[in-house]
Amino acid sequence: MEALGLAVLVGLVALGQGQPIDPHAPPFCPPLAPRDCHDVHAGGSRSDGVHLIYPGGRDGAPVPVYCDMSTEGHVWTVFQKRFNGSVSFFRGWNDYRRGFGRADGEYWLGLQTLHLLTLQAPYELRVELEDFENNSAAATYGSFALSPRAVSAEEDGYSLHVAGFRDGGAGQPWGRTHTYGVGPTLVGWDV
Ligand SMILES: *[C@@H]1O[C@H](CO)[C@@H](O)[C@H](O)[C@H]1NC(C)=O
Ligand SMILES: *[C@@H]1O[C@H](CO)[C@@H](O)[C@H](O)[C@H]1NC(C)=O
Repeated sequence: MEALGLAVLVGLVALGQGQPIDPHAPPFCPPLAPRDCHDVHAGGSRSDGVHLIYPGGRDGAPVPVYCDMSTEGHVWTVFQKRFNGSVSFFRGWNDYRRGFGRADGEYWLGLQTLHLLTLQAPYELRVELEDFENNSAAATYGSFALSPRAVSAEEDGYSLHVAGFRDGGAGQPWGRTHTYGVGPTLVGWDV
């Protein structure tokens, strides 16, 4: 496997947070089946770490995910985390579809889970990089979705829809490379 020169954290933040509270809204009730880390936070959890989410709704399977609740005042649903090279990211399509690794270590959440997540709310994407000298950089994309309009996401190849690049010191946007699809793209970020 390749030498890992960077720690990589890739996550989503739900848009529409921080809006003024509607006085006529029904009383707050934490979701029983949190769809993402934002829901986990709304349910009272305040610490970074692994939580169960239900991206397919309360009848879907629970998925363990790493929640970052301390970066830039947002709650990030992390879908790729790499920091010490203990998990190989050179894998086949089925592993990228289903996910691999563990949310308490290095992992990839999986294309199908990501697709379900991005279907149910608009998300912003954040990529954080840190090298061995502790220099860090981030890049943000204002919108991110996988096959948002496809009848079958799998047949559509989980095609990546990203827009609204904002540089946080990480340099150029993915540009050309994002046509390769989300798995190879995110993995390809640090090769
Ligand atoms: C990498 O980190 C994981 C989780 O903290 C740990 O279990 C594992 O032993 C580490 N592996 C290496 C090669 O440092
Ligand atoms: C990077 O940060 C870690 C943890 O804060 C520290 O242990 C390490 O010495 C730092 N490395 C460098 C090269 O500054």
